[in-house]
Amino acid sequence: MNSKNVYIETFGCQMNVNDSERILTMLADIGYQPVAAPAGADMILLNTCSVRGGAEEKVYRRLENLAALKRTNKRLIIGVGGCVAQQEGEALLQKLTCLDLVFGTHNLHLLNDMVLAAERGERRSETAFIDNTQRLDLFPPVKGTARVSRYVTVMQGCDNYCSYCIVPYVRGPEISRRSTEILDEVRQLAAEGVREVTLLGQNVNSYGLKSDGEPTFAELIRQVAAIKGILRIRFYTSHPKDMSDELIDCFAEIPALCGHVHLPAQSGSDAVLKRMNRGYTRGEYLNKILALKAARPGIAITGDMIVGFPGETEEEFAETLSLMEQVRFIDLFSFAYSPRPGTGAADLAEDLSREEKQGRLERLLSLQKRITLELSMAYLDTTQAVLVEGEGRRPGQVSGKADSGRTVNFIGDNSLIGTLVHVKIIQVFQNSLLGELI
Ligand code: SAH
Ligand code: SF4
Ligand code: F3S
Repeated sequence: MNSKNVYIETFGCQMNVNDSERILTMLADIGYQPVAAPAGADMILLNTCSVRGGAEEKVYRRLENLAALKRTNKRLIIGVGGCVAQQEGEALLQKLTCLDLVFGTHNLHLLNDMVLAAERGERRSETAFIDNTQRLDLFPPVKGTARVSRYVTVMQGCDNYCSYCIVPYVRGPEISRRSTEILDEVRQLAAEGVREVTLLGQNVNSYGLKSDGEPTFAELIRQVAAIKGILRIRFYTSHPKDMSDELIDCFAEIPALCGHVHLPAQSGSDAVLKRMNRGYTRGEYLNKILALKAARPGIAITGDMIVGFPGETEEEFAETLSLMEQVRFIDLFSFAYSPRPGTGAADLAEDLSREEKQGRLERLLSLQKRITLELSMAYLDTTQAVLVEGEGRRPGQVSGKADSGRTVNFIGDNSLIGTLVHVKIIQVFQNSLLGELI
């Protein structure tokens, strides 16, 4: 088989990152090896995100640039997958003559056939959602990577329909992967040297609830924790309304479960939460946070926040800021509201200008910067258990994560990669910590 090169560019969330890893694993079967730059590649794939307007526009701009490469290499195959592909489907092929293939979020298993067809000059689009009974096909496992920490998809899709969000439309309804398959994949990864797994899904805490005979998410975590070689477990991302007591207890009972939880709040105002269709109040959110902090003292909390949702008043925005002070997120991913076609909120009148939304976002970011720095300062002079994942920023350094998820760099030998070591924190930065091996 001739060796061919594929360049893949990934936008959006961890789910897309993991899908790209799966795609590369599958493409190896038909002779494609990954390369790090588009120039000279035989195939270019964009794995796209449509969660906000900006993310989508980026993809179109990128495709325009790539179309130019096709003028010099007529045989170049260009494909689009992920959430923009799912949303636009066939229309993308019609709009953009440079495109050879479009594959949706449920169609990874068809990709190799589509690529072989594209090599013969056929242009195809596949975006049909599969149903629950076909779910085995969805998730070809990732093979053969020399990394310490890996993502493992446990479910995809979402049934929550938050009024701003396009994910349920582009990822489809919630489908949980079979636990036997998940556990097999984790065992395989552990045998390859993986020491940390992050269980992935749009809403992991509703894992298994729609399937007979599957464990709950909390039970799944216990089963993963029992696998030899797995030192650390993380999961991403959770919906506050589904953060069960059983799952919160895991933080008290399972040492391998890291002391970090990502629990998007989206707003601190009950009225806005209601308009967002989030299904919890500020008080309920705070109670979950208190329970998590009690289960695992010092637990690091991160979250997502949206500013400028339609109708958000200055007072409602102030409630978001006060929630941040109460929770004290170590990191917050925050976004200016962006209307998405077809979602519940799409038709709500937007009374805030772009500048007003941006202004609120900047106020939120500066508050977050202060909180992040304050919480980071508390690491100074502490000893952290660090799972060493790779080389550090500077020569001679290695880098890893503390239990809380903070990045720690320190002087150390590459032979430490894959081990859990103790490091004393000697300097604090906004996004990382500097340590000294003990
Ligand atoms: N499944 C995840 C979120 C996926 S989208 C969860 O529920 O936690 C990631 C983040 O993008 C969301 O948490 C939200 O903060 C943001 N987001 C989603 N739709 C948005 C929109 N229309 N405008 C601005 N931000 C949005
Ligand atoms: Fe979107 Fe809400 Fe589902 Fe998260 S829970 S993916 S924000 S609809
Ligand atoms: Fe974006 Fe799709 Fe993830 S819309 S955030 S890539 S699920």
